[in-house]
Amino acid sequence: MQPSYHDFISEPAKRMPRSDIREILRVVEKGNVISLAGGLPDPRVFPLEELEEISREVLLKHGDKALQYSPTRGIRLFREILAEYMGKRGIPVSDPDEIIVTVGSQQAIYLTALTLLNPGDIVVVESPGYLAALNVFKIVRAEMVGIPLDEDGMDTNILEDKLRSLSSQGRKPKLLYTVPTAQNPSGVTMSMERRKHLLELASQYDFLIVEDDPYSYFLYEPVDFKPLKQMDKEGRVIYLSTASKILAPGLRLGWAIGPREIIDYMELAKQNMDLHTPSLSQYIAGEAFRRGIIDKNIPRIVSLYKEKRDVMLKALEEYFPEGSKWVKPIGGFFTFVYLPRGVDTKKLLPEAVDRGVAYVPGRNFFPHGGGENTLRLNFSFPPAEKIEEGIRILGKLFKEKLA
Ligand SMILES: Cc1ncc(COP(=O)(O)O)c(C=O)c1O
Repeated sequence: MQPSYHDFISEPAKRMPRSDIREILRVVEKGNVISLAGGLPDPRVFPLEELEEISREVLLKHGDKALQYSPTRGIRLFREILAEYMGKRGIPVSDPDEIIVTVGSQQAIYLTALTLLNPGDIVVVESPGYLAALNVFKIVRAEMVGIPLDEDGMDTNILEDKLRSLSSQGRKPKLLYTVPTAQNPSGVTMSMERRKHLLELASQYDFLIVEDDPYSYFLYEPVDFKPLKQMDKEGRVIYLSTASKILAPGLRLGWAIGPREIIDYMELAKQNMDLHTPSLSQYIAGEAFRRGIIDKNIPRIVSLYKEKRDVMLKALEEYFPEGSKWVKPIGGFFTFVYLPRGVDTKKLLPEAVDRGVAYVPGRNFFPHGGGENTLRLNFSFPPAEKIEEGIRILGKLFKEKLA
């Protein structure tokens, strides 16, 4: 008799949130669909020739170490290189031991949650917020409190009201998770005023902040901002970043920078999870940072994505129904559209895919529901002409449904 496998699956595994995006991408990959759904870099930004040369050299000169097991916290040399690079970007690192190297920043989010959150602890998130982080907070059974965004990022006045009301019940959040610069999914960037306010609130109400920062390296407009980590006087910010958008996501390299005591616990959690981040990736990326390949690549990244962003914004203006609203992102991979009420983007997705275009329904990004009339659109990956065509097809579909 074949066992009933479902009966063997653990309760935590059954509770794992399924990502709509992955399900959609699976469908999209099969057919001839324009995908505005994913969040992939354009492969033209991968510095292939340089990586080929570095990989050969790394294997020849350091093959014995690059192919060997390595420390859980990350290879010391790579952490030193990162500390210097981060320092130049205004992220202070006084000791490479304040850094842990992770398998993408996704693992850094998971390790932070495992290390800091008990079931029932309150974590403040942006609404809409980064889906894969919201999923992690669900897995560890934290209680999420979503704070709405506007064009200046998380509304810290609403946050303050919420903190006050929690405090009157004798409660407070332990953690606040934010993507303050070129947020995924909304594309907004938190103003300096809000950043200051947020740090004041963290101090007043005694919580920690996770600043997730994959996108601030390549901005399409000049903006006045400082990383929260740089403004943090009390050591409340754990800063996360990644090589995925500036080098290549396939290397699976991210890092967290924070107080040593917390990084020590994250190291312990990681040790039990995967022993360490691939040594070869760390050697290759370390050389790419050291030789200035990433810095040289950034202007190319900016010009390519800025052009695609502009194609998308122009097409939205031309084809989307009157009354739609979206953000002009100054960085990142996405814009987020609010359609007039009455359009349900989740219900319409199969029809959109039938007509040849995929997107991510926005409701996935709202921790407490809502957002039925919203969608996230990616401009980094599709070719410019496909972006135009995709937005035209979607605009026609949405206008038909509103008629
Ligand atoms: C805000 C944010 N955080 C984390 C990640 C995860 O990136 P990775 O695990 O490739 O470093 C992404 C990827 O899209 C992201 O947008």
